[in-house]
Amino acid sequence: MKTLAILLAASTTLAAPYPSNQNSPLNFYVALQSTGILSISFDPAQDVNTSLSITGYTTNAGYHPDWLTSHNDKIYSISRTNYPGTTSGSGGLFALEEQSTPSLGTNNLTLLNSVSSHGLGGIHCDVSPDGTLLSAANIDGSSVAVYPLSPAGIIGDASHVFKHNLTQPGPGTNESQIQANPHQAIFDPSGNFLVVPDRGSDRVYIYSVNSHNNIIQTLNLTLPPGTGPRHATFRQVNATRSWMYLVSELDNTVRVYTLDHEDQSPNHSSKRTSWFQPPPASTPTPILTPHQTISTLNHTDNTTRTPPKPRSRV
Ligand SMILES: *[C@@H]1O[C@H](CO)[C@@H](O)[C@H](O)[C@H]1NC(C)=O
Ligand SMILES: *[C@@H]1O[C@H](CO)[C@@H](O)[C@H](O)[C@H]1NC(C)=O
Ligand SMILES: *[C@@H]1O[C@H](CO)[C@@H](O)[C@H](O)[C@H]1NC(C)=O
Ligand SMILES: *[C@@H]1O[C@H](CO)[C@@H](O)[C@H](O)[C@H]1NC(C)=O
Ligand SMILES: *[C@@H]1O[C@H](CO)[C@@H](O)[C@H](O)[C@H]1NC(C)=O
Ligand SMILES: *[C@@H]1O[C@H](CO)[C@@H](O)[C@H](O)[C@H]1NC(C)=O
Ligand SMILES: *[C@@H]1O[C@H](CO)[C@@H](O)[C@H](O)[C@H]1NC(C)=O
Ligand SMILES: *[C@@H]1O[C@H](CO)[C@@H](O)[C@H](O)[C@H]1NC(C)=O
Ligand SMILES: *[C@@H]1O[C@H](CO)[C@@H](O)[C@H](O)[C@H]1NC(C)=O
Repeated sequence: MKTLAILLAASTTLAAPYPSNQNSPLNFYVALQSTGILSISFDPAQDVNTSLSITGYTTNAGYHPDWLTSHNDKIYSISRTNYPGTTSGSGGLFALEEQSTPSLGTNNLTLLNSVSSHGLGGIHCDVSPDGTLLSAANIDGSSVAVYPLSPAGIIGDASHVFKHNLTQPGPGTNESQIQANPHQAIFDPSGNFLVVPDRGSDRVYIYSVNSHNNIIQTLNLTLPPGTGPRHATFRQVNATRSWMYLVSELDNTVRVYTLDHEDQSPNHSSKRTSWFQPPPASTPTPILTPHQTISTLNHTDNTTRTPPKPRSRV
């Protein structure tokens, strides 16, 4: 799948659901807080002025859609607040389906269903690798929720809602550390773990996915005060090992961890263990940052730097 670096005013994420032939147009989606979700077509065969076109939009994704992800032909979106109505202090989660009409050149999204995100400030959602679970992180409500997904992609009632706590404020400025702030809830490539960087508490909470109905917090990584962990991404090394890259918002660092787990079977009831350690030195590794830029990390060079600017803009 091709990766595009796109920056749109007041937009946050994009998701591209289908791997595509080299020369056929790519569809992708942008969560635009002011509007809803835009469907965009990128045709690499066209010139720079005509290669991008808006093919649809939906306003059925709640108030201030904040993050998008995709699984097969389904798009999942989380909104910031006002779900289901303006008196609610919770975000919403939305399952949407592509409704492409090639003859008209449109690609609108149809709403399948929606549920509460179980907290204020819906900010991130993710589908487990096997497509059976959906996660939600609520940055202002200090909560994380997990939902079953039906084979048809419908979001069920939350099976778990976890509350994060903060015993004392951290040194971060601008109210960045006055409460627990789960910033992301992402499944690792094996689907055995749900990883939640918590900016406010300088911790990364690791949940063990033992079965669909048995998800427990097993571990936390404690970072130095004022780190502000924000997003993690993974690179799978083999069936039992991944590298985890953690980007932190307050000290502007990327940290690298090794995530090992015991078994490689999709059987969620098997016992698993994990541990974290630095990977081998001096292996430059491509990473995808939360801002959708590709960067290279040099493990032997631990100095802090500003991430590069996105390579293309719209
Ligand atoms: C694209 O549009 C710009 C601004 O209108 C114009 O200057 C440029 O020549 C166009 N490029 C192509 C390849 O048509
Ligand atoms: C689909 O999207 C197009 C482009 O934004 C819009 O003109 C059209 O009204 C939409 N159709 C439906 C059925 O929502
Ligand atoms: C936060 O506190 C609540 C209530 O005491 C507790 O149930 C929950 O497990 C705590 N959360 C974490 C992540 O430790
Ligand atoms: C705090 O927020 C203000 C207003 O957004 C901004 O100008 C300032 O740079 C921020 N300070 C820090 C330390 O991030
Ligand atoms: C975090 O992990 C440490 C041990 O590494 C443990 O003492 C502590 O209770 C954990 N905190 C939470 C909130 O789970
Ligand atoms: C994965 O790689 C690690 C490090 O090289 C190795 O120890 C482990 O045995 C490998 N696991 C599998 C299933 O190949
Ligand atoms: C999953 O593991 C449990 C416990 O080891 C075992 O009883 C069960 O048969 C396994 N299920 C599958 C589908 O392999
Ligand atoms: C990685 O960083 C170290 C220390 O700054 C430097 O000596 C080395 O040349 C760098 N390696 C690459 C591949 O850039
Ligand atoms: C970078 O690594 C060196 C050697 O391990 C260590 O002495 C130094 O404190 C590290 N710097 C930072 C900013 O972590």
